[in-house]
Amino acid sequence: MPVDTKPIILTGDRTTGPLHLGHYAGSLKNRVALQDSHRQFLLLADAQALTDHAHDPAKVRRNVLEVALDYLAVGIDPAKTTICVQSCLPALAELTTLYMNFVTVARLERNPTIKDEIQARGFGRDIPAGFLCYPVAQAADITAFKATVVPVGEDQLPLIEQTNEIVRRLNHQIGRDVLPEARALIAPVGRLLGVDGKAKMSKSHGNAIALSAAPEAIRDAVRRMYTDPNHLRAADPGSVEGNVVFTYLEAFDEDREAVVALKAHYRRGGLGDVAVKRRLDDILQALLAPIRERRAALARDPGHVLRVLRAGTLEARERTQATLDEIRHALGLFTFDR
Ligand code: TRP
Repeated sequence: MPVDTKPIILTGDRTTGPLHLGHYAGSLKNRVALQDSHRQFLLLADAQALTDHAHDPAKVRRNVLEVALDYLAVGIDPAKTTICVQSCLPALAELTTLYMNFVTVARLERNPTIKDEIQARGFGRDIPAGFLCYPVAQAADITAFKATVVPVGEDQLPLIEQTNEIVRRLNHQIGRDVLPEARALIAPVGRLLGVDGKAKMSKSHGNAIALSAAPEAIRDAVRRMYTDPNHLRAADPGSVEGNVVFTYLEAFDEDREAVVALKAHYRRGGLGDVAVKRRLDDILQALLAPIRERRAALARDPGHVLRVLRAGTLEARERTQATLDEIRHALGLFTFDR
């Protein structure tokens, strides 16, 4: 196994749908920037997707390719970043089983991300065991690659904390630091609001702009975007807090000074929603057009994308198996080999 001199990144996405602008601002952009300075692995988390999609494995399978297309379209370079398929890495499942013994059910039930997600999915008492345990599987993902940096949205922070708890318990049991702890890397934008301004951007809330959105779909989303409901006439003073158009300008407009000036103008009165929306539409169109075009070109050559995934998954298989072997040995489990 080659020795890595760069810090290792592991992160990923559930394959339940194509990625959107929230993913871009919250972490994809970061990943593209980090792929030179870090040894980066991206996980197409289809096994984790099944933890709340057991009723629709076809959707989970279909979206492996969709998310891979999104990665490549935003500029993830397979020569620098290894992209792999989670369910094709059996060592992850084995590590998960081992790690389950280093965490309690009560601790999993207290995990704030899990609590929120159980609520949002309306599981009630009928929580799939796989769902409750997915933080353990995510700890397996991160540690199998010995990642120390995990670029994610801030909703994932409790999962990194949970991972590090498992790492500490395991290292304690073994008596030395076999596994490194990891830290989350949160993008400056954090989580992006949905176009309705009500919740974070999410496909399931129907308030997302897909990275593959057509120009008309982008224009339409911007036109419907939540602003200040009390800002009825352009001449009136308006509020920029919770105003989705301004949160997006903050996230995507490179001209920081212009944004500061626009906000002041809007607050003062005399700046209409139509004008700021036109600016945002121009910015989003310019951002998404090349991504959409690259994505369409790649989609015409699925054979190429599959080759990238196969090569990445084979490399990841070796790496994750090596970590599993090391942990099995360190814990002193039975073996026929030594
Ligand atoms: N939980 C992440 C999400 O909801 C996906 C994921 C799976 C992940 N395994 C990971 C993220 C490991 C970071 C590290 O999108």
